[in-house]
Amino acid sequence: MIKKSLTDLEPARLEGRTVLVRADLNVPLDDDDVSDDQRIRASLPTLRILCDAGAKVVLLSHLGRPKGRAQPEFSLAPVARRLGDLLEYPVRFVGETHGEAVAHAVADTAMGQVVLLENTRFHPGETENDPELSASWADLGDIFVNDAFGTAHRAHASTAGLAQAMRSRGHEAVAGILMARELRYLEGVLRMPERPFLAIIGGAKISTKIGVISALLPLVDRLLIGGAMANTFFRALGLDTGESLVEEDAIDLARELVEEGGETIVLPVDCVVAPEVHEGAPARIVDRDAVKGVDKIVDIGPRTRSRFADMIGEARVIFWNGPMGVFEMAPFAQGTISVAEAVADACDSGAMGVLGGGDSAAAAQQAGVAHRLTHVSTGGGASLELIAGAELPGVASLSGVENE
Ligand code: 3PG
Repeated sequence: MIKKSLTDLEPARLEGRTVLVRADLNVPLDDDDVSDDQRIRASLPTLRILCDAGAKVVLLSHLGRPKGRAQPEFSLAPVARRLGDLLEYPVRFVGETHGEAVAHAVADTAMGQVVLLENTRFHPGETENDPELSASWADLGDIFVNDAFGTAHRAHASTAGLAQAMRSRGHEAVAGILMARELRYLEGVLRMPERPFLAIIGGAKISTKIGVISALLPLVDRLLIGGAMANTFFRALGLDTGESLVEEDAIDLARELVEEGGETIVLPVDCVVAPEVHEGAPARIVDRDAVKGVDKIVDIGPRTRSRFADMIGEARVIFWNGPMGVFEMAPFAQGTISVAEAVADACDSGAMGVLGGGDSAAAAQQAGVAHRLTHVSTGGGASLELIAGAELPGVASLSGVENE
């Protein structure tokens, strides 16, 4: 069912209304300050539409995993400060998740202003999807906008629970601007008829990405594999991987995928190896069948880089998730950076290039190419689940356009 989004609501329906907005403001903090504000920036279009239309915004988010109790290091107070700077609308912060203090603060907030509540996960009912907690938030507003794509794979009280509570009262629960954009591009990848369709999957473990690999394999023309998960595939081919990270209990799975995928699965042909995973370690480039002894595979090699770049250059639709090596360390980041540049070049020539969030988004930032890509998701786990074909509770719970 197609879900209703904020753009389906006339601005006149927003004026003078109290709108509950769930955003994913789960950002990294460094010494009580926001160290990466991408997710805060991504929430601005929805907030601006609502403030400009004369609505009062009650904003909810989680930050980290504080396990159901208030812990100062997970407070959203630093996020409120950064949000106020970026939004240029007054942002008031309430240090409570629910209850009287929240109700008073909401009543005291003027139309066109934002009030941010404390970390929803300070309340144990949030991750338990407690209907009473959802109801207490639903009491505060007239419309619910879920813009938290990064958390859409969780059925929590402030996401799916709040949407259900609002709809059961006859109110709208709609997707925000970011949520709608994420769904458009990520679902677009799966529906895209253009070919060649190429996926690049990296990162450490096959087991965490098996859903996405299995879903993509029948759809794509090529599936390029990099990162430590390639080591497990090497072992499935009978190759020596030295002391590299290998998922021993996924070797059989890798063998099955290679048998099923045939030539669709493209593995690295050479690797960067080092005796230790630290920046100063003496690194060598070797063919994949020459890895041995104390070698640890830390990146794809130059022949693989150019092979991958050629294939990416021919593709019309590209989905990428996961780094090609230990990209956090400059000497081992070349493979990931060259993939990022190849995807950006392909986008410049008209291909659609979509990145899952998490490490691949960080890699695209590091390579300085994020702005050239068609879409960089703000959701790590959520984008993988969506591509793997799972129903996201945060999306499923929204009002459908047919119900209008
Ligand atoms: C994320 O950072 O991926 C989202 O905010 C979800 O966080 P979670 O994995 O703690 O639910």
